[in-house]
Amino acid sequence: MQLFENHSLLPYNTFGIAATAKYFSPVRSTNELDALIRENKKSFQVPLLILGGGSNLLFTKDFNGWVVKNELQGIELVREDLEYYYVKAMAGENWHELVLHCVNRNYAGLENLSLIPGKVGASPMQNIGAYGVEIKDVFFELEAYHIAEQQIVRFGAAECEFGYRESVFKRALKNQYIILSVTFRLRKVPVFHTSYGAIEKELEAMQVDSLSIKTISDAVIRIRNSKLPDPQKIGNAGSFFKNPVIAAEQYMQLQERFSNIPGYANAATVKVPAAWLIEQCGWKGYRSGDAGCYNQQPLVLVNYGTATGTEIFDLSTRIIQSVQEKFGILLEREVNII
Ligand code: FAD
Ligand code: EPU
Repeated sequence: MQLFENHSLLPYNTFGIAATAKYFSPVRSTNELDALIRENKKSFQVPLLILGGGSNLLFTKDFNGWVVKNELQGIELVREDLEYYYVKAMAGENWHELVLHCVNRNYAGLENLSLIPGKVGASPMQNIGAYGVEIKDVFFELEAYHIAEQQIVRFGAAECEFGYRESVFKRALKNQYIILSVTFRLRKVPVFHTSYGAIEKELEAMQVDSLSIKTISDAVIRIRNSKLPDPQKIGNAGSFFKNPVIAAEQYMQLQERFSNIPGYANAATVKVPAAWLIEQCGWKGYRSGDAGCYNQQPLVLVNYGTATGTEIFDLSTRIIQSVQEKFGILLEREVNII
């Protein structure tokens, strides 16, 4: 096992925040992980942070514990039946490479989730989603390491308690498990999801005459590249806040004051785009030092260079306050604050 002390986390978080970890170890096998956990229990006794691609984290201080960088590799077709392929991916696999692996083999279901940064292991943590599809729609099961008991446990979909950017691993079982692998159930005959957002318009612009999971993947990649900042160029962690879900009654009251407020109804609730609320409060394109609110998508907070995690966090607090004052809606942060 490799162990680094006072190790820089700058290359390992897409926000580009300069923070350090007291201890840092890459882990490439379940055995190595098991040895590390036992060693920590016996002698170190420090908090652990499991790191994937660092694309949904904001470091607001140095991490005074042990960062375990998940590098478990492998993608395998473990089973198939008449309708489905069952593909198991280890937690350290790059998410987009898994998507391309499946798209190239005509395993359908992940194509709308193309180009989301990060690793497979984090994908069920918050039920990643984009363009009308969430992990829960293609999830079969996962294997996770129980830190206290040092045992491997399987979770089916119901046990993961998936919700909008939520799972049991973010709530009741927070910090108790390390996700080792995820198995996806992917269709042999695809069901295309093209009605969401700009997909249809993009397919038209691409002059696609025969729809396939590859063309959908390509369209999603083009849309994402056109509006989200590339973390290689501008530090960010995607949407910083969740889109708030409010009661239909509250939405109707807001409509009386803000006639053009967008909203997506679902039973007795309405999901309101946080980007719109933030833009209405005047934050779109705002910049203070190197911390800012992205000028093409205000739901994304950005680090233009050397912003600290605290500066980004403080900006998020000011945005939450102003949205609360203007609309009476409390925005919830989506990014994990460390
Ligand atoms: P990390 O940031 O490394 O970790 C996230 C959290 O999960 C941390 O709390 C970490 O401790 C925990 N964790 C990570 N791996 C494990 C594991 N194996 N076991 C237990 N806990 C673990 N998200 C979307 O849902 N949809 C989008 O469209 C989207 N677009 C994005 C666009 C950009 C430009 C960026 C930068 C981010 C975007 N995101 C999006 C957010 C991010 O890509 C996802 O949340 C992704 O799943 C995070 O993966 P990661 O490996 O980087 O996780
Ligand atoms: N909008 C504005 N101003 C803007 C941009 C958007 O008012 O400058 C409003 C518009 O009303 C627009 C709406 O916001 O119709 C929605 O915008 P967009 O389609 O860009 O999606 P989003 O709701 O902001 C969500 C996810 C993204 C995901 C996209 C596509 C959340 C928190 N975010 O963003 O996920 O990629 O939909 O499905 O649900 C992430 O989680 O990091 C992430 C990027």
